[in-house]
Amino acid sequence: MLAKKMETALVNQVHEEMYSFYLYLAMAEYAAAEGLPGLQHWMRNQALEEFSHAVKFMNYIAEKGGKSELKALQAPPKAWKSAKQVFEEALKHEGHITECINNLVDLAYTLKDHATVNFLNWFVGEQVEEEAAAKAVIDMINLTGNAPGGMFMIDRELAARPAAPNPYNPTPAA
Ligand code: FEO
Repeated sequence: MLAKKMETALVNQVHEEMYSFYLYLAMAEYAAAEGLPGLQHWMRNQALEEFSHAVKFMNYIAEKGGKSELKALQAPPKAWKSAKQVFEEALKHEGHITECINNLVDLAYTLKDHATVNFLNWFVGEQVEEEAAAKAVIDMINLTGNAPGGMFMIDRELAARPAAPNPYNPTPAA
């Protein structure tokens, strides 16, 4: 059983992950409208990853005898000034998510809930990767984005991102 305080905090995180899904989906739509199919592909796959994070939280809450009650999602922004600004906002958003995860870990330690600490450790590592991935694209844009054809080349790089696994079955069968 989860302590009520822990359950409420984990359910809030389901909402954070679902908003992340929605935000990256909006970024994908912006990319499509700007003629950046690689960025659209990257963001759609990022959105799917976020959905899989929400599912991971929901599965864990259910395993521990709790229940996720879904809340209304706030509309994400519709437009950004540039692809660089998209990734700057993504990095800022991931910083916020890292803070959320750290707060959950702090709460789990306070409650001596070692199972939840263990569950959250995966997300601690994942956040390092998520922030690094957004920063890597910003660095790439800073290096080549202003060169002729620079954004075209970056968009091709973004198109090479592997497809996200099925969010309901994130571990592919061996
Ligand atoms: Fe689910 Fe990008 O954090």
